[in-house]
Amino acid sequence: MDLTDLHELQSRQRAVRTFDTSVPVPDELVEQLLRSATFAPTGGNRQLWRFIVVRESSVKSQLATLYEEEAARYLGRPVEGQTSWRDVPVLIVFCSEPGGGGSSIFPAVQNLLLAAHAAGLGSVLTTLWKAREQEVRSILNVPADIEVHAIVPVGYPQRKYGRNKRRPVAEVAYRDRYGTPW
Ligand SMILES: Cc1cc2nc3c(=O)[nH]c(=O)nc-3n(C[C@H](O)[C@H](O)[C@H](O)COP(=O)(O)O)c2cc1C
Repeated sequence: MDLTDLHELQSRQRAVRTFDTSVPVPDELVEQLLRSATFAPTGGNRQLWRFIVVRESSVKSQLATLYEEEAARYLGRPVEGQTSWRDVPVLIVFCSEPGGGGSSIFPAVQNLLLAAHAAGLGSVLTTLWKAREQEVRSILNVPADIEVHAIVPVGYPQRKYGRNKRRPVAEVAYRDRYGTPW
């Protein structure tokens, strides 16, 4: 893969919230995604990440209820046109053991998002449930000293997506000092 191929992959990696729930995502594939996540860097290479792969209906349903409540609050209207987490094939929860510093998880999340896209899967990084973190922790049986950072639903996309829309580099990059054009 060269840089052009990488840009193609990155520019087409989108926030996918609507899934074809008739197509399963086998454990072997989930494991490959987790492998990609674990190729990411962490502070001091401590690799304190822990992943919870959620497939059980009752667990997904409980998370779905509170996520949809928070998403509706955020949007100011009920969530429409998104696959409920009840029906998404798998939810991957990104946690970390104490001592790593919270930032170390996000390179792993991004690796997984890109790997999912490369495998033809859709995914989306979510944090809206954070307002209900205590409930999430209790549903997932997360010990008190473990941090929960992100929940990523994964499944095959229901439709095709175009490239993502991002501001051009010239608008957001500076040379030597803040504000000096690149
Ligand atoms: C830190 C972070 C938190 C996010 N939280 C949510 C979320 O809770 N729910 C959601 O549907 N999307 C969430 N997103 C996805 C963004 O809304 C999405 O990436 C953005 O709108 C751009 O869409 P695109 O990647 O398809 O271009 C989050 C993204 C980031 C980086």
